[in-house]
Parts: sequence; structure tokens; C-alpha cells
Amino acid sequence: MAFIRQEKFETNSILLLLGIIVTVAIGGLVEIVPLFTIGETIEKVEGVRPYSPLELVGRNIYIREGCYLCHSQQIRPFRDEVERYGHYSLAAESMFDHPFQWGSKRTGPDLARVGGKYSNDWHVAHLIDPRSVVPESIMPPYAHLMEHQLDPTDIAEHLKTLKIVGVPYTQEEIDNAAADLAAQATPDADTDGLLARYPKAATGDFDGDPAKLTEMDALVAYLQVLGRMVDFTTYRPDYAKGDAQ
Ligand code: HEC
Repeated sequence: MAFIRQEKFETNSILLLLGIIVTVAIGGLVEIVPLFTIGETIEKVEGVRPYSPLELVGRNIYIREGCYLCHSQQIRPFRDEVERYGHYSLAAESMFDHPFQWGSKRTGPDLARVGGKYSNDWHVAHLIDPRSVVPESIMPPYAHLMEHQLDPTDIAEHLKTLKIVGVPYTQEEIDNAAADLAAQATPDADTDGLLARYPKAATGDFDGDPAKLTEMDALVAYLQVLGRMVDFTTYRPDYAKGDAQ
């Protein structure tokens, strides 16, 4: 019987066409309909903020150097992942990422919550020569980051561009971008304004050379904020908020 029904479709092009349209329409609906509720799908989570200028420059270096080729930034909600890396990633945690860095390959560990796991010194030593701290590491060295100084002249434009695609940078943040960039990596700088604009931003010298503002400063500042914006000691998902306990 099944054979006869199939033959009907295969010998009648109009029927076949209708069959294809129905099948593709179902597939299309399954993909498109959930997007209508995307506004509610991504729950608003306290603590998630746009990157500070220094973190943003670090993120650009992360992308330029292709760190995503070996590192994911997405902890899946499975027990083994959560035990190794911490709370599973929330959609809101990458809502200001353009492009997101979820990645699809883990030659190295997931980095979604690497912020605060190591000291700045460890990161610098590791990036200069990974095998100096992890003898069996196969990660390539990035010592050249120490030699490249940051140019703050175009940072405001980066913020403005991200604003166009929906990152809510304020005019105040754009106006202060170059100053914030320098203040975050300068020991003893006045960081009150910076911390009001970007709560929890790590400040101070990152690369071990306080006299220079280098790409190493920026990349380490970025690594140190990963996964630290949301406070998971108090976080409760929307679906659990109505629960009694
Ligand atoms: C060829 C693959 C590869 C590339 C490219 C790579 N890494 Fe790694 N990375 C690894 C491996 C493997 C490890 C685990 C061994 C180690 O700690 O060195 C690792 C470890 C790390 C760790 C420590 C993570 C932890 O939880 O212990 C950090 C941080 C890190 N990499 C950052 C970076 C950054 C930043 C870049 C880009 C500048 C980068 N990696 C590029 C392979 C890579």
C-alpha cells in the first residue's frame, strides 16, 4: 500500500509539488514561529551589561586571534558540564555579543566562566607561553600581545557601531570611552565613573607593565569578566520565581 501512495506522488508532478509545499511549510513554521516570542524567550537577567571599552577591545582581539576555534563560551545544561564549568550559560549572558562566541569546538576548555578563576599574572604567563604553566598544553603562545600598545582613538566608534545593532551604550558611555579604556588598566586611576557605568569591571594593571596599555591588558580584562556579570548565588530563573521555597 505504501508503495502505491508513493508512486502516486512520483508520477504526478502537481501532487508532488503540493506535497513539497506542505512539507516545507511545516518545516518553516517550526523554525519561524518560536521567533515571534523571542522577546520573552530571552529572560532579562540582573547584572548583564554591555562590555566596558577595555573588555570590548579584548573581545575584538579574542576574535582576531581566533580563540573561538579552540574554545567555546557556552556551558550546556548537562550535569558533567555544570560540574566542570559552573552554572549553565543563560541566553541573556551573550545578548550584547556581536557576534556571539558560543563556538562549536573544544580543543581547549569552555571559557564562559573563566573570569576570576585565575589571577591576571597566571593569564599573562599562560598567554605568553602556555607550557610555562600547563606543561602538557597544546595552546599556541600569544606573546606578541605584550608588544602592541592600544590606540584609544577609535574606541568611541566601536561603541557607536554596537549601539546601531542594539547594544544600549549611552551617550555618556560613548563620550567617556577613551578615558574609560585607559582608566580601567591604569593602577590608582579614578575609576568611580567607570565602575558606575560598568559594574564589577576588574581594574588595575593586567599585563604586569603598568606603564603601557597593551593588547594583553585588554584581552586579560575581557577574560576576567567572562561569566562574572550574573550573581549565581542569588539568581533564580523566571520559571522558578513563583515557587514557594
Ligand atoms: C589550538 C587551540 C587553541 C587556541 C587557538 C587557543 N587555545 Fe586556549 N587552550 C587550549 C588548550 C588545549 C587549553 C588547555 C591547556 C592549557 O590550559 O593551556 C587551553 C587553555 C586556555 C585557558 C585556561 C582555561 C582553563 O579553564 O583552565 C585560557 C584562559 C585560554 N586557553 C585562553 C585562550 C585565548 C584567550 C586564546 C586566543 C588568544 C586561546 N586560548 C587560543 C587550546 C587553544
